[in-house]
Amino acid sequence: MKQLKIGLLGLGQVGKGVYSILRSKRADLARKCGTSLRIVKIAVRNPAKRRGVRPSRHQLTADAHQVVRDPSVDVVVELIGGINPAKELIREALRTNKDVVTANKALLAEHGRQLFREAQKRGRHLLFEASVGGGIPVIKVVREGLIANRIRSIRSIINGTSNYILTQMSKSHLDFKEALALAREKGYAEADPTLDVEGTDAAHKLTILASLVFGGWIRFRDIYVDGISRIRSEDISFAEEFGYAIKLLAIAKKTPSGVEAQVRPTLLPKSHVLSSVNGSYNAVLMSGDEVGEILLYGRGAGSLPTGSAVVSDLADLARMRLGGIHHPFHMDFRSLPVRNVALLSSRYYLRFHVVDQPGVLAKISHVLGRHQVSISDVIQKEQRIGGVVPLILLTHRASERALRRAIHRINQLTVTRGKAQVLRIEDDPPPTVSVRRHGG
Ligand SMILES: NC(=O)c1ccc[n+]([C@@H]2O[C@H](COP(=O)([O-])OP(=O)(O)OC[C@H]3O[C@@H](n4cnc5c(N)ncnc54)[C@H](OP(=O)(O)O)[C@@H]3O)[C@@H](O)[C@H]2O)c1
Repeated sequence: MKQLKIGLLGLGQVGKGVYSILRSKRADLARKCGTSLRIVKIAVRNPAKRRGVRPSRHQLTADAHQVVRDPSVDVVVELIGGINPAKELIREALRTNKDVVTANKALLAEHGRQLFREAQKRGRHLLFEASVGGGIPVIKVVREGLIANRIRSIRSIINGTSNYILTQMSKSHLDFKEALALAREKGYAEADPTLDVEGTDAAHKLTILASLVFGGWIRFRDIYVDGISRIRSEDISFAEEFGYAIKLLAIAKKTPSGVEAQVRPTLLPKSHVLSSVNGSYNAVLMSGDEVGEILLYGRGAGSLPTGSAVVSDLADLARMRLGGIHHPFHMDFRSLPVRNVALLSSRYYLRFHVVDQPGVLAKISHVLGRHQVSISDVIQKEQRIGGVVPLILLTHRASERALRRAIHRINQLTVTRGKAQVLRIEDDPPPTVSVRRHGG
């Protein structure tokens, strides 16, 4: 039987998943692929480290270049992470005519265009199923199952850490810090959670997915990114009172004037299918012109789910080699313009802390009105903390630029304390006006 000889770079979380799956499913995969998938070399930083899986001593090396240069290796699987040396190792692998599989979303989002061009030039495959949505085969669905479609929009929850934290804040009434501590305890958050909670990781994934789906290249730096660290537990409860859940949504839409692409905490109606995606789960909802709406749901991270996605790329490579297919998947490298978020419009959730005196709502709504922002719903709480009460407004659709100008003015009013909370609402159509007064 033919063999696909694999050089593995990294035997951490994902590397161990790949290693275990290739061992436990060896016969099964060989039968399904008509080729046996065999790891011949593995590079790690520290070969002496105990890691729960036990490759043979002659498989392990601390020199990743040795793996990449090994002439017996057909495919290099990059699971080191970060930009360098991962980028140089991938380029070297492509230059020496090897196919490459990677899970490295940060690298692809920031340098993917250069790497895909290099692969195309050399007639090599650069596959990346595990880089978006972990175990969810979203890349394959877009490339194969949805090939007949123009995808018009992507709405997704693609950072499990943030989703876990928001779920804990909602279900267990924890504040952000407590929920983050719990996420760390359960292994859902890294020691430094910044990339996850500030939205960067989701934006990396959105860059890759939207570039693939919209047939052009979207620059990571053009995506508007805002994270969840400024969400307070009161925002979760107020949103719930209005019938919404707060989710870190990664959205991309193709419009005639450019792509809209943003990652930000967003209010979603509780009836929306993405509102029930809880815990560390991910989901991607796409709308295609032929198929309509399609939802993918599953584990967006973790050793075995992500390993499963890497192995699916390896199986594809094995089958393509067996069938003599050397034509890499089509990638389009034209730059796609991304619209400035200030030019977009939406409905908004606004939370102010205001002094408890008559006329405050009138003052705030006057400023909003002067900026063409109209109010659709109000909750005024009578719960005083230091003479200050929360005032929550939902707006009708308004321009983001106008809203920002209004908020800047409102933050300067003598009746407001601290900065307003501003969150986007994703729903259509907006409800009619109603004003409610609630006791504390
Ligand atoms: N973890 C997930 O759930 C997940 C999900 C989707 C995508 N990803 C992506 O998958 C990639 C790997 O993530 P991970 O969580 O598996 O990382 P990890 O647990 O930190 O593992 C990294 C591995 O790379 C090795 N390594 C680091 N620098 C090296 C070098 N210069 N030469 C050789 N080996 C080196 C490390 O060796 P030592 O073990 O000796 O230190 C370790 O085995 C990242 O791009 C990540 O974004 C991860």
